[in-house]
Amino acid sequence: MKKIGVLTSGGDSSGMNACIRAVARTAKFYKIQTLGFLRGYEGLINDDCIQLTQESVSGIIHRGGTFLKTARSERFKTQEGLLKANETIIKNNLDGLVVIGGDGSFKGAIEFSKISNLKIVGCPGTIDNDLVGTDFTIGYDTAINTVVEAIDKIRDTAESHNRVFVVEVMGRDAGIIALRSAIASGAEAVLVPEIKHDTKDLILKIKNWRDTKSSKIIIVAEGDESGGAYNVAKVIKETLPNLDLRVTILGHIQRGGNPSCMDRVNASLSGFHAVKALMEGRSNEMIGFINKQVCYTPFENAVKHNQTLNPDLELLIEILSA
Ligand code: F6P
Repeated sequence: MKKIGVLTSGGDSSGMNACIRAVARTAKFYKIQTLGFLRGYEGLINDDCIQLTQESVSGIIHRGGTFLKTARSERFKTQEGLLKANETIIKNNLDGLVVIGGDGSFKGAIEFSKISNLKIVGCPGTIDNDLVGTDFTIGYDTAINTVVEAIDKIRDTAESHNRVFVVEVMGRDAGIIALRSAIASGAEAVLVPEIKHDTKDLILKIKNWRDTKSSKIIIVAEGDESGGAYNVAKVIKETLPNLDLRVTILGHIQRGGNPSCMDRVNASLSGFHAVKALMEGRSNEMIGFINKQVCYTPFENAVKHNQTLNPDLELLIEILSA
């Protein structure tokens, strides 16, 4: 293996820079050259890349976002885009590619492998923690810490006014950000896509909350069947019009910020193992860590989204916030 490429694709997540750095420096250690493709698969299609050196990845381990930039490439979903990307691979004599991204990025890699012989290894970069084959994705830990910090602040104002807050967090198809941040922030209720619920139960819960509670926080995952925090608030207001209620959508602050120690370490390990995996001839697999052991999961399985939530977590929220 003489030359590899690396790119970040899909939604950015904190720790992606640490992963790029680990890929470039591990490759350098093994005398492999690294090209960084800009704006994800768009960079592959346009042959838009920069040489990554020991120096060019300096000073980025602590920075959120991705200095290679990212995109959700629509062109890479077309046959024409895939073929153009393959021309770039051939032109640059690439022996391997590291894709740092989430399920959409790995679905792209699966399609690409149908028309290209390039060896591709993935590093799980998404705040959603919704990939099969790893305990934690890069960026998830930073995101939930941001959520908890924000909810602590919301709690201050909620308590001062005796208010109910409905807080929406990210997670298009997954409720793990909502569920774990609900435990950590002491939230009173949580609505996630993986657990079926009836708004009547939520109303009943609100009515039964003890009067001595001065703040009540309901966390809603953006992908929940309720349609999000504003819809939940509307339904509550229809039954309880006098409830003093506010809505906060946390939005993209969850995606930014300096990566946590855990994300930096996971990202660094992930980038290191990705290069080693390519050197061992592995392909179409995602690097992950389960119980601290490195695991290789075929892309087809990694994108299956079937991370079942531990049902005890919902019960725990109920018990702890009573
Ligand atoms: O996939 C990560 C994620 O942050 C989801 O939680 C969210 O639904 C989505 O990206 C938002 O994407 P965009 O930034 O493209 O609007």
